[in-house]
Amino acid sequence: MKKQFAALIFALLPAFASAAALEVPLDKVDIDLRDKAAMQDGARTFANYCMGCHGAKYQRYERVARDLGISEELMKANLVFTGAKIGDHMKSSMREKDGKLWFGAAPPDLTLVARVRGNDWLYTYLRAFYEDPTRPYGVNNKVFPNVGMPNVLAGLQGRQVVGCKQVQVVEGGKKQFDPLTGAPITHEACDQLTIVPNSGELTPEQFDEKVKNLVTFLAYSANPVKLESQRIGTYVLLFLAFFFVFAYLLKREYWKDVH
Ligand code: HEC
Repeated sequence: MKKQFAALIFALLPAFASAAALEVPLDKVDIDLRDKAAMQDGARTFANYCMGCHGAKYQRYERVARDLGISEELMKANLVFTGAKIGDHMKSSMREKDGKLWFGAAPPDLTLVARVRGNDWLYTYLRAFYEDPTRPYGVNNKVFPNVGMPNVLAGLQGRQVVGCKQVQVVEGGKKQFDPLTGAPITHEACDQLTIVPNSGELTPEQFDEKVKNLVTFLAYSANPVKLESQRIGTYVLLFLAFFFVFAYLLKREYWKDVH
């Protein structure tokens, strides 16, 4: 029995290894959960561009407004489109059945997606759609091949295509620079994502910022009490440090007569 189990593990190992090898490197994003302006912008993008298909059904509009410092009036005017009440859960109006029919897969709820996928994955995924005429909606995605989701942010980002461009040479994990001029050494690489210049509303930097804000909102949404926990944690540690002094003095008092 044990042998069979071991054989099974060994049979599966290469499968795991090859899955890992195929993984696309993710772009790192450094988000700040105290940045309310970023989260407000992200919440607006989420309501405008995502909630037609996705919900955040474990989250209420009211709670988001309170946590992000948005007044109820502003929240209702700018973020609640479905005729929902401020105390309602942020559900999408699309029925799961329809989503499956239209996109081949129902758009999943996104409340917890940042915990499931991670911030870097989300940041890369949302910037990795590219034109691919063989797909039903004309787009594909680098980190989620053959995804059913259309590129909803294309208007902002512009047309992204796979093509050739100059990229910096990396050897042994280190970016290479010319020793004389200090300029980066580049070579032409194909299979690279490139944006057709001036085809979107935002510049690439602005677009990255927009997506970063959206990811910040999703990260908040996946763990709305995180900031609160950190704050309480600080008090707990301070209390323990303070309490230690008295506990130590008391211990000294008790043991004084023993020795
Ligand atoms: C037109 C409908 C539609 C819109 C609008 C839309 N999505 Fe999607 N999304 C989908 C569908 C369908 C899937 C499932 C794709 C699949 O499994 O092939 C998906 C999948 C995803 C996933 C992957 C979930 C997972 O873990 O598998 C993420 C993340 C995501 N969407 C984020 C967003 C964000 C953020 C927005 C707003 C900027 C957005 N989507 C707007 C239809 C949509």
